[in-house]
Amino acid sequence: MTARLTEEQRDRVEKLLSSMTLEEKIGQMNQESVSIVGGFDVPFEQLIEMMTDGRLSKEEFQTIMSTAKTDYHEDAIRKGLVGSLMVQDPEKCNELQRIAVEETRLGIPLIFGLDVIHGFRSVYPIAIAEAGSFDPELMEETASMAARESRACGVAWHFAPMLDIARDARWGRVSEGPGEDPCLASAFARAKVRGLQNDHSSTDHYVAACLKHFVGYGAVESGKDYNTVSMANHVLFNNYLEPFRAAVEEGAETVMASFNDLNGVPSTVNPWLLRTIMKKHFGLPGFIVSDANAIKECVAHGIAEDEADAGRQAAEAGLDMDMGTEIYLHNLKKLVEEGKISMSVVDDACRRILEVKMWLGLFDHPYTREGEIGKYETLPEEHVDLALRSAEESAVLLKNEGDILPIAGDAKISLVGNLADDKEQIIGAWAMSWKEKDCVTIREGMEKEFPKLRYFPCGGPEGEINEADAEEACAYGDVIVAVLGETVAMSGEASSRADITLPGDQRQLLEKLLASGKPVVLVLMNGRPLALGWEAEHVPAILEGWHLGIQMGNAIAHILSGRKNPEGRLSSSFPAVTGQCPIYYNHPNTGRPASNFKFTSRYLDAPFQALYPFGFGLSYTTYTLRDLKVEDKGNVLGISAKVKNTGKCSGRATVQFYMQDVTASLVRPIRELKGFAKAELAPGEEKTVFCSLEKKRMGFWNNQGEYRLEDGLFRIYAGQDSTTEMMQEIRLSFDGIEKEPDYPVI
Ligand code: BGC
Repeated sequence: MTARLTEEQRDRVEKLLSSMTLEEKIGQMNQESVSIVGGFDVPFEQLIEMMTDGRLSKEEFQTIMSTAKTDYHEDAIRKGLVGSLMVQDPEKCNELQRIAVEETRLGIPLIFGLDVIHGFRSVYPIAIAEAGSFDPELMEETASMAARESRACGVAWHFAPMLDIARDARWGRVSEGPGEDPCLASAFARAKVRGLQNDHSSTDHYVAACLKHFVGYGAVESGKDYNTVSMANHVLFNNYLEPFRAAVEEGAETVMASFNDLNGVPSTVNPWLLRTIMKKHFGLPGFIVSDANAIKECVAHGIAEDEADAGRQAAEAGLDMDMGTEIYLHNLKKLVEEGKISMSVVDDACRRILEVKMWLGLFDHPYTREGEIGKYETLPEEHVDLALRSAEESAVLLKNEGDILPIAGDAKISLVGNLADDKEQIIGAWAMSWKEKDCVTIREGMEKEFPKLRYFPCGGPEGEINEADAEEACAYGDVIVAVLGETVAMSGEASSRADITLPGDQRQLLEKLLASGKPVVLVLMNGRPLALGWEAEHVPAILEGWHLGIQMGNAIAHILSGRKNPEGRLSSSFPAVTGQCPIYYNHPNTGRPASNFKFTSRYLDAPFQALYPFGFGLSYTTYTLRDLKVEDKGNVLGISAKVKNTGKCSGRATVQFYMQDVTASLVRPIRELKGFAKAELAPGEEKTVFCSLEKKRMGFWNNQGEYRLEDGLFRIYAGQDSTTEMMQEIRLSFDGIEKEPDYPVI
């Protein structure tokens, strides 16, 4: 393995560090965003509030923003007081970089960071959808394209991947992450880090990943954003930390601390999480940044007396960069001078930041090259193709009664729903650099595939249903395709929902369409699992389309016409009713598993199971599995199964391998995903798929942080979703097997 930095690069960093003043070091620890400074009479936060509560329309807000004055902090940059900025305009980045490189005493370049969560100019499916492709190569490719596109705009640092395990779909940010399962999330994490960071053929081809949000943010109580998190250590270690551990092992450079408190300590000021686990134990090479304004929020958390106290606690805990509050900038110097913070804390933080900049090549190539700027204005064909492929692979067919789908090309189709023809709505939360010209709506995609299509907006998640439109839709088509779900703003940050059924009057619209007696296909656009109990009972065909990015329209059209056989799976369980949240397949065993007997772990008024479980997804063909084999090969279990295409068209099957530790010293999950494999199969074709399960990965961490590999009985399952029943038992002894490291518990 080649070293991350050469000797010479390390020397350069050390020389620089030794020539820096305390102020300059603290400057590196300060991240600024572009501030809106006037042009209107009320504070920016109030404007947002006014837009949220409807006092200001979106258009009015945009007009205000376009005329507002902005502060890029040029003076502070010139004084060496800024280490990083959030900017996405390449010319502006170059201009600010020039100040940093040419006008500061030491010429240290800035690092520009941004939320590039699921694509930059080319927007791919939101993470919860893409994880369901069960295709790490695809995940890597989309990350790699995003790295190139953003670097051409000066952005060398992505606040991604978001790796929060999320099991409560009321939380709006489930959309941004890879779902409920630590094994799938770890595969996603590794793929994203490789895609973002590994192509060093040119400095234009890679960026630094920033794993977020460290940690436990996905478990905010009751799914309400920014809420408190309490969890036992074994839950934390075995689930929530796993994707982060995997990503750092893969080489991830940086991490973002989460907003939430974990068992009473906000991550921002938690030395055990930041210093002991992330830096010492996992060995994070680069630095940790706070989440936006999070240091300041430690005062509101009631954990710090004032801003200076919050800054002191954060710096001591190992938080290297302050996002957005300037608390380090205004307080660290005094704290060091008064001996309240040791100089080594500042040196360590500054060194980590400089090393990441060095690793990115920013000292030698600080600017976006002339030829790069605007390079992706017109998206290259391969980027568009990848956007299409990722969208096609991520949509999940949930129901197809009577084989309504695919729809014949010459069918008369009534396409219904505002969401079907709104470019902004296919993009999903946290996409900022997309252009309307690249977006294909479902209407546009379907019009190419189905010449006899007519479009009737009828309404959507917000506002009223247009009855006349709905009547016309019912009268025209042989088939009705209703595109319903959530607007982009209904998921993502600060978008938790207490009721996750279809919002607004969309259920009534569906009832009306179904009353026509025509076959109705429900195409969903949403950023979270929805409670679809009613829809699953009444609507004959359901295609989960999530927010699939710029090529969503073509992808959905191809699936509806059968040109593409659906293959996506659910990375998160779907409840039948909201009250089942949090719901996840890998739940710990209880002493009273749900059954028809009343005194078991169940609700009186909801099903026992998820409506659609983790790993579920249909296809236009059928696959059958047989011959599950489990072989003890020393350090690994060799697991295999045969999968056959028993239907009429080719497709890609996703075989999932689960494990159950039958008896252990701690209650273990009912089942845990341990591997998966995809197989391309022609009709009638059968293939053997394999999973090599390292024995050291069959254990678990207990509450004391010890990694336990306990001899005994294990069940190995193979199936097409997490409820599968094909199973083999094996009794194992772990004598002589090297185990995963223990957690440093303090
Ligand atoms: C979000 C982060 C994001 C940051 C910077 C915060 O509000 O929680 O996920 O990276 O803003 O935009």
